[in-house]
Amino acid sequence: MTKTVVAVDGPAGSGKSSVSKAAAKRLGFAYLDTGAAYRALAWHVLDSSVNPDEAPAVIASLASFDYAIGTDPDGYGVRVGKTDVTNSIREPRVSAAVSAVARVPEVRAHLTALFRDIIQHTEKRGIVVEGRDITTVVAPDATARILLTASEEARMSRRSAELATESASDVAIALQKRDRADSRVVDFMTAADGVVTVDSTNLNFDETVDAVLDVIRTSQEK
Ligand code: DC
Repeated sequence: MTKTVVAVDGPAGSGKSSVSKAAAKRLGFAYLDTGAAYRALAWHVLDSSVNPDEAPAVIASLASFDYAIGTDPDGYGVRVGKTDVTNSIREPRVSAAVSAVARVPEVRAHLTALFRDIIQHTEKRGIVVEGRDITTVVAPDATARILLTASEEARMSRRSAELATESASDVAIALQKRDRADSRVVDFMTAADGVVTVDSTNLNFDETVDAVLDVIRTSQEK
């Protein structure tokens, strides 16, 4: 039986994580949040008192990066060493450090190899993998390749609704800063050849999930 691999890329606040998770649940597939892995490494770097802007030290910290991520869309946990970091990787201090860590080529190569290993070894019929370079680098041969976008305005208002504790303008500034830094490393705003764009600006959550499921079904028929 061939495994179905669904690659989903997109910017922060595009709804990528929740939509990918819901699509995986509907299909009985595994789910891999690659951003959570980059965040786990940023957490590890900070926990080791390494400056995230010092690439050689970040590269050195890969040797002690003992990381595990669940692939159950109903509740996946992230662990670094013996510490459950599922919640702490979402803290603003980690969000602020993650772009610096993610731009180091050795980091990307290391995590890409881990992701490919997880994709290969999943026991489910398929896996939905989401991030920034899944359609282009991690799984360019995926069965379905999707770029999930939304206007900047829609993305900011979704993010500020999610993080009720931060003011909308703080969220907007942090999001723009991170997107700008991240897009210097990977172009996740334009669809590569063969990648289908799903623009969720004028779609509600269920409509977006349905649009993604449609792309997956069409790709499976090919
Ligand atoms: O999706 P997210 O916001 O949780 O991702 C966290 C960071 O990781 C984001 O700033 C960009 C980076 N990232 C990446 O460079 N490549 C990926 N495949 C996934 C995430």
